[in-house]
Amino acid sequence: MNNKYELIYEGKAKKVFSHDDADKVIIEFKDDATAFNALKKAKFKGKGKLNCLISAKIFELLLNNNIPCHFLELKNENTMIAQKIKVIPLEIVLRNTAYGSLCKQTTIESGTDLGKPLIDLYLKNDELNDPLITKDRIELMNILSTKDLNYILDLTLRINEILKGFFKNIQLKLIDFKLEFGYDFKNNILLGDEISPDNCRLWDLNQKNDTIVSLDKDIFRNDLGGLIEAYSEINRRINDFI
Ligand code: TMP
Ligand code: ASP
Repeated sequence: MNNKYELIYEGKAKKVFSHDDADKVIIEFKDDATAFNALKKAKFKGKGKLNCLISAKIFELLLNNNIPCHFLELKNENTMIAQKIKVIPLEIVLRNTAYGSLCKQTTIESGTDLGKPLIDLYLKNDELNDPLITKDRIELMNILSTKDLNYILDLTLRINEILKGFFKNIQLKLIDFKLEFGYDFKNNILLGDEISPDNCRLWDLNQKNDTIVSLDKDIFRNDLGGLIEAYSEINRRINDFI
């Protein structure tokens, strides 16, 4: 990145730089992959580009469906311009099918259809290992108002309906996903972060029997191999459909 832009923040998978406009940022997607709060780390050449391109397409889809998002435009294949937001320190996870931590922490069996979407809230705090948090604790910590939290939960349910339908069209089952939101300089709530196979579980529906084929970061979490091939396949299906 041109060094006239200041690095404002570096996360596990992205770098955020200043922009000539104070209310915008430049987000560069890295090739790094982490799991289990960065206990497991690796680099996958081309992952940054794929997640950036996939996220851009998904943000465009959501914006066209009146979901407020930080995304403005692609700058190049692994960099996007977004509205600057103050990130709310919550990770909002929506689950359609039981998998992952839900099955480790409860007696619900992997693969159970949840009937109605389940939303789990986590405190975004690496030192505390992003713990599951309650609405009452969020209120106690003054993270955001109940009205804003309810608005975010409503947006999350709407996003799920849009994404579930979209992914079904490209033969993918949306198992669960994680969202982050923030406030822009006018105090509007916008969807931030990224929407990619790094933070969604996507199962291939092009399978003859009920075998689970993950086309998402579970490939890395579970050492299944073929991560770039899977992310490329998702990018290809999105581009063939749109
Ligand atoms: P979980 O089953 O591990 O709680 O994950 C639920 C969803 O959230 C899954 O799609 C992966 C995503 N996720 C993230 O994007 N970041 C995280 O730090 C974690 C734990 C999960
Ligand atoms: N994003 C988390 C990490 O970097 C965990 C995960 O996605 O599984 O460790």
